[in-house]
Amino acid sequence: MNRKYNFNPGPATLPLTALEKIRDNIVEYDQAGMSILEMSHRSAEYGAVHAKTKELMTKLFGIPDNFQILFLGGGATLQFCMVPMNFLTQQLSADYIITGSWAKKAYKDAKLYAPVKVAASTEEQKFNRIPKQSELKLDPAAQYVHLTSNNTIAGTQWQQFPDTGNVPLFADMSSDIMSRRIDFKKFGLIYAGAQKNLGPAGVTVVIIRKDILEKSREGLPAYLSYKTHAGDDSLYNTPPVFAIYVIMNVLEWVEAQGGLIAVEQMNRKKADLLYAAMDADPDYYRGTNEKESRSYMNVTLRLPSEELEKAFIAEAGKAGLHGLKGHRSVGGIRASIYNAFPYEGMEKLVEFMKKFRKSH
Ligand SMILES: Cc1ncc(COP(=O)(O)O)c(C=O)c1O
Repeated sequence: MNRKYNFNPGPATLPLTALEKIRDNIVEYDQAGMSILEMSHRSAEYGAVHAKTKELMTKLFGIPDNFQILFLGGGATLQFCMVPMNFLTQQLSADYIITGSWAKKAYKDAKLYAPVKVAASTEEQKFNRIPKQSELKLDPAAQYVHLTSNNTIAGTQWQQFPDTGNVPLFADMSSDIMSRRIDFKKFGLIYAGAQKNLGPAGVTVVIIRKDILEKSREGLPAYLSYKTHAGDDSLYNTPPVFAIYVIMNVLEWVEAQGGLIAVEQMNRKKADLLYAAMDADPDYYRGTNEKESRSYMNVTLRLPSEELEKAFIAEAGKAGLHGLKGHRSVGGIRASIYNAFPYEGMEKLVEFMKKFRKSH
């Protein structure tokens, strides 16, 4: 098989060694006489997968003891409503920082439950930057401050998380979770759809501070309450077992790379290579965002015309560079270069950019 360099924004490229290991174990898992796909989620074998996935995530991400990991369904999108449902009322509000369309969707759902406020928005600048600390209008009585750590569509990323005083940050980290180390002290709740850095679509990881979990509302439908899942170690109902198993394999790959420090360094190296190529030729390969706000996961750029962009995407595809089309809502070019995207792929892209520039 001739694997393409896969720049898809999510679902996205996964480590080849993890895929191969999953393939080798797909028919029979660990001499159990059946596939992991066929097993009870209450079996000892699956129990070990569940525990190992949490253990690896805790170790590699440096998750402190006062947090709990949950594996849920419904995508990151379900968290847009589940978060406010669990923590807000008409009297208890939260602040939202709007840095892209995913943040806007989260805000829109939260408005259904509480008079939530916009602490800052960069929509007028087409989301081309992350707001500065001085721009944030924070309410000290807010239950949380919600932000999107990496804006998958706009191609911006918080390089430094804001100071929100005693109010915890609640972050949608769908597109940069486990791409870098973070200071958990700032966070109360983190959620992420797995289908970028962690594994396949189908599981959403929630990492929640235990004292905050305790404060979540009673009286919600069972599935929509964090307490239900926390109380049953994410086994209240059938969890997305296969997706969790894939995450375990991806985390083993992260560990083999040298852990998060090594992965973070490689992510910077990959993105820096591409940004340097763009900055060397800024009239042709124009970055869409302010430099300090640029994402290390989704690099967005424009060419001098839409025709050239179409030709770029088509010719790149023929050269084995797949998935470079920008999101349908913004157009342009987007290279999504998550943890598993290989450095050689970046070299190939930069080489292709030079050739394309000469011939067009
Ligand atoms: C930052 C961010 N949040 C939320 C979502 C929505 O995730 P899901 O499709 O898992 O609901 C995405 C999807 O790409 C995303 O990039």
